[in-house]
Amino acid sequence: MLHRIHRAGAGVLGAFLTLHLFNHLLAIGSVEAHIHFMEAFRAVYRNRVVEIILLLCAASQVASGLTFVRRRWRDRHQGLDLLQLGSGLYLAFFLLVHVGAVLAGRMQFGLDTNFYYAAAGMHVLPYRYFFMPYYFLAVLAITVHLARALHWLARDRLGAVAMRGATALLVVSGFAAATLIVAALSGALYEVTVPAKYLATFVLGR
Ligand code: HEM
Repeated sequence: MLHRIHRAGAGVLGAFLTLHLFNHLLAIGSVEAHIHFMEAFRAVYRNRVVEIILLLCAASQVASGLTFVRRRWRDRHQGLDLLQLGSGLYLAFFLLVHVGAVLAGRMQFGLDTNFYYAAAGMHVLPYRYFFMPYYFLAVLAITVHLARALHWLARDRLGAVAMRGATALLVVSGFAAATLIVAALSGALYEVTVPAKYLATFVLGR
């Protein structure tokens, strides 16, 4: 039952995430392209019913994932199983902090939580040393976790070579996407000027 809930939540969250990460990849071109797409996409996920479903899926994903970890903690973990455990634990931590920060940005600070909200932390020292790996690992953890899920779900249908190819493709794409997204947010691709009201959240506390 719990596995079915985890898979259903992954389906909903995965559909959102595909477009969410595509949205962040658009920042490779320009901040305007990122903001333009986000404003259009918000018409879907900021719909009250859709947003409640999305947030409930995020919460159930964290709760079911942590229950799996607790149940299997005593099992001997080795090799790739450790990657599934580690990426899942990181995603649970990230989802809680990330969604909490987005909701606080909107409700507590009254900010438009767009590109600049995510970028701000990378433009203030010493927070940059937290936010760069924080976002990088989130994107990478998604693809590692997906690759391990694929292993369990398709192991009877895919041969060893096809499975290794699919895993490598997923992980390499995750690594490349994580690098490009963090490069755009941190201002490595072009100059990014974060408005003062976003930088101020680090003085007031986030
Ligand atoms: C580099 C990676 C990421 C960045 C820079 C980022 C940034 C953002 C930003 C700025 C928002 C606010 C959107 C808005 O105001 O409309 C947001 C929302 C959200 N993000 Fe991410 N995100 C990243 C990765 C992820 C990942 C990996 C997940 C899931 C595991 C995720 C889940 C969510 C969710 C559930 C929301 C809330 C949507 C809502 O209800 O408004 N994000 N993210």
